Amino acid sequence: MRPYVIVNVAVSADGKISTRERRQVKISGKEDFDRVDEMKAGCDAIMVGIGTVLADDPSLTVKSADRIDERVRNGRPEHPVRIVVDSKGRTPPDAKILHKGPGLRIIAVSDLAPEKNIIILKQHANIIQSGEKTIDLKLLLEKLSETGVSRLMVEGGGTLIWGLLSAGLVDELSMFVGNIIIGGKDAPTLADGIGYISESDFPLLELLSISQIEEGVLIHWKVKKR
Ligand SMILES: NC(=O)c1ccc[n+]([C@@H]2O[C@H](COP(=O)([O-])OP(=O)(O)OC[C@H]3O[C@@H](n4cnc5c(N)ncnc54)[C@H](OP(=O)(O)O)[C@@H]3O)[C@@H](O)[C@H]2O)c1
Repeated sequence: MRPYVIVNVAVSADGKISTRERRQVKISGKEDFDRVDEMKAGCDAIMVGIGTVLADDPSLTVKSADRIDERVRNGRPEHPVRIVVDSKGRTPPDAKILHKGPGLRIIAVSDLAPEKNIIILKQHANIIQSGEKTIDLKLLLEKLSETGVSRLMVEGGGTLIWGLLSAGLVDELSMFVGNIIIGGKDAPTLADGIGYISESDFPLLELLSISQIEEGVLIHWKVKKR
């Protein structure tokens, strides 16, 4: 058993998710920000890779007070469980994700994480051991499912999304395409990693919906099972 996994990402018109220096850029506007907040509020947990924590320092909290109230009325915690995929336990102890807002945090580490990092991170988060070198994402999702996570949102970055896609662990992809061009062959995309070689390995997507949001387009795909 694993959670239902929804990847949410904002890309530029040329398919980039940040600059070649991995600097966070504003790709979407207020309306899409609100849509993402609603999506967050509807999930049990939200996951990012350590690359995103180091580059963007997100808090991943639900922003709308009404949505927080509604979660609490429904017997849920104010914010989804916040999860970092972080083999070596490199999450900075002062990262916003560990401090902003109440609620459970989970750092997923592998056998490579030094004990001293784990001791520090344990002051702020639960630690889940999963994998020898990189994180065994399938095992991690199974462990999350056992703790009650049934709907998981993934907020990037490209390396983590690739890891999940290539392991067949993504159910939906929600993609906002903004009206800017970032450019650069080294700028990250939504699925980095090594990429597929054989066409028979490409995940196939079913188009669920397409809509205009401000000056951009929201595309909602379902990942078909191979
Ligand atoms: N536009 C958007 O919607 C959006 C959203 C989020 C992020 N971003 C951008 O994305 C960039 C960060 O992306 P990123 O690709 O550098 O980092 P990332 O995907 O956030 O994190 C990747 C890291 O996760 C760890 N990891 C451990 N096990 C893994 C596994 N099985 N599969 C994949 N990753 C695993 C690895 O680090 P260890 O080996 O140290 O564990 C890996 O380098 C930033 O520039 C950020 O601004 C954009």
